[in-house]
Amino acid sequence: MNPVVLAFETSCDETAVAVVRGREVLSNVLSSQVDLHARFGGVVPEVAARAHVEAIRGLTHRALAEAGVHPDDLDAVAATEGPGLVGALLVGHSYAKATAWARRLPFVGVDHMEGHLFSPLLEHPEFRPPAIVLLASGGHSQLVYAEDWGKYRVMGATIDDAAGEAFDKLARVMGLGFPGGPAIDRASEGGDPDAVRFPRALEDRPFDFSFSGLKTAVLTFIRQATESGDLPSLADMAASVQEAIVDVLVEKTLNAVEATGVRVIGGGGGVLANRRLRRKLTEAAGERGLEVYLPSPVFATDNAAMIGAAAVHHLEKGRLGYWTDSVDPGRRLDVRE
Ligand code: KG4
Ligand code: ZN
Repeated sequence: MNPVVLAFETSCDETAVAVVRGREVLSNVLSSQVDLHARFGGVVPEVAARAHVEAIRGLTHRALAEAGVHPDDLDAVAATEGPGLVGALLVGHSYAKATAWARRLPFVGVDHMEGHLFSPLLEHPEFRPPAIVLLASGGHSQLVYAEDWGKYRVMGATIDDAAGEAFDKLARVMGLGFPGGPAIDRASEGGDPDAVRFPRALEDRPFDFSFSGLKTAVLTFIRQATESGDLPSLADMAASVQEAIVDVLVEKTLNAVEATGVRVIGGGGGVLANRRLRRKLTEAAGERGLEVYLPSPVFATDNAAMIGAAAVHHLEKGRLGYWTDSVDPGRRLDVRE
């Protein structure tokens, strides 16, 4: 069964629409609001919701046109249900339910993090559980033990900032733009990752993350180094900060692999677009003979194709949404089925 699904993702600052057939991506379009939010230094929820309203109709037509799919050929409509910003989520969720209702199609509500968890599958059909999946985005950082599709145990998570949030805050501290992840990734080019050794927190908690201490350490370092006149170059600073975040993400992922005996690593979320993280994770997996499946950057950051891929799984299991379903901004990924 390869259902054709029209999928929506509007949990944060990207309006994303995709058409998938099974796990094959027929189209994947999005309108980023990055420029709208940049001058505020972060995502403004009300601005995000309004921008989704403006973009969603045009993008839907584009996604269908690019896929070469007529609405009559659709088998289902899916949308992110949570977690995310309530107003932003409501736009995509309501639009998807209305489309499904009007066309008498099944509707599937999808967990945003489960979408990220399915994202490696879009390009690597051989990716399958059991797997340890590192989910690291702007709002969440989790290590998930996926025993099977739909059966997840969150082994560890951040106790303060998400990894993407840490990139964003640290970029601001270093005077780089928003979003901070891509800015640090670019600024680190040619820099020495060992120029400054910043602390790696929570060494005693094998699967959890903490990044707020790093921000304090970097702020303190910049102040002291500026006073003494030996502030390293921006490239060295960016590479060192990036290394501190990446090291922790890789180490905790390997801890989870070791604890479970799983041989497959997956990844999802905007931070997985980070070049240093991708390289270190791939190298570490290679040294240990583990399989690693990472989505390419367009499917690592928020997109609707991943929501479509997760929806296909729910359709296969016969788990459909209801017209009365609403969004769940605080939704948590955990054992289901
Ligand atoms: O998954 P995502 O697109 O949206 C959320 O669900 O939050 O993740 C966005 C986050 C932002 O914090 C952004 O700074 C980070 O992903 N990010 C990166 C990179 N590209 C995006 N972090 C590090 N390196 C990158 N290349
Ligand atoms: Zn996301």
